Amino acid sequence: MHFMRVRQFATVELASLYVASLIEFIISSHEHPVLGLATGSTPIPLYERLVNFHRQGQTFDHVTTINLDEYVGLGANHPNSYNYFMHKHLFNHIDINPAQVHIPNGMAPNMDEECRRFDRVIESFPIDVQILGIGRNGHIGFNEPGQLLTAKTHVTPLAPETLNANARFFKSRTKLPTHAITMGIKSILSAKAIILIAFGDEKAEAVYRSLFGPITTEVPATILQTHKNVTYVLDKQAAKYLPSAVSL
Ligand code: GLP
Repeated sequence: MHFMRVRQFATVELASLYVASLIEFIISSHEHPVLGLATGSTPIPLYERLVNFHRQGQTFDHVTTINLDEYVGLGANHPNSYNYFMHKHLFNHIDINPAQVHIPNGMAPNMDEECRRFDRVIESFPIDVQILGIGRNGHIGFNEPGQLLTAKTHVTPLAPETLNANARFFKSRTKLPTHAITMGIKSILSAKAIILIAFGDEKAEAVYRSLFGPITTEVPATILQTHKNVTYVLDKQAAKYLPSAVSL
């Protein structure tokens, strides 16, 4: 197991400002920075901070982004798609070149081809820093618990817990996508640095298990223990089961 940094903050705002500052340092010191980005409610305040940095003069015109995942069957214009989410919260408000934005296409006519296309994108643009959230069941991206984890981009059925957690965003349960396309575990681990962000009590157990539990496909985030450069950024609630020496 490698050393994993844990940074705990009193508020979501401070934690998000910390991550935004780390990203700002990377994009202002790299000629062609590549950011791996995540969706979900957790990174929204981070994206607000990045938009603010842009308003204060930080350019994103040299940045490439690669998103982790997308719902199968939802297009860029669907308000629940991750493509829509990313534009609403970040891309519409910064000067990024749309050609440098990469999100899996959940509407591709041939999903196998789309998976291979996305793998080629990930190989062509090695990720400098991958932002991750974590599911209550320990999933990362949409790599759900199970007997096997998949290395590369793939289509996956969504776990019942994930469907329950995400139902709140959809008008009716019948509209909920049942599958997603997601970056695989090996691609996530190929990022040079990983920042996992988790807020709130409901993430505390997954955070504890992913840092201290045995590495198991049943808690996909435990695989991060094998990566050399991982930082967990937590609020107090998400850190509540951690030994105090780790979380200070
Ligand atoms: C979805 C995403 C994950 C995200 C998780 C947690 O399942 N595919 O990338 O980490 O939700 O979402 P939230 O941040 O809303 O708790």
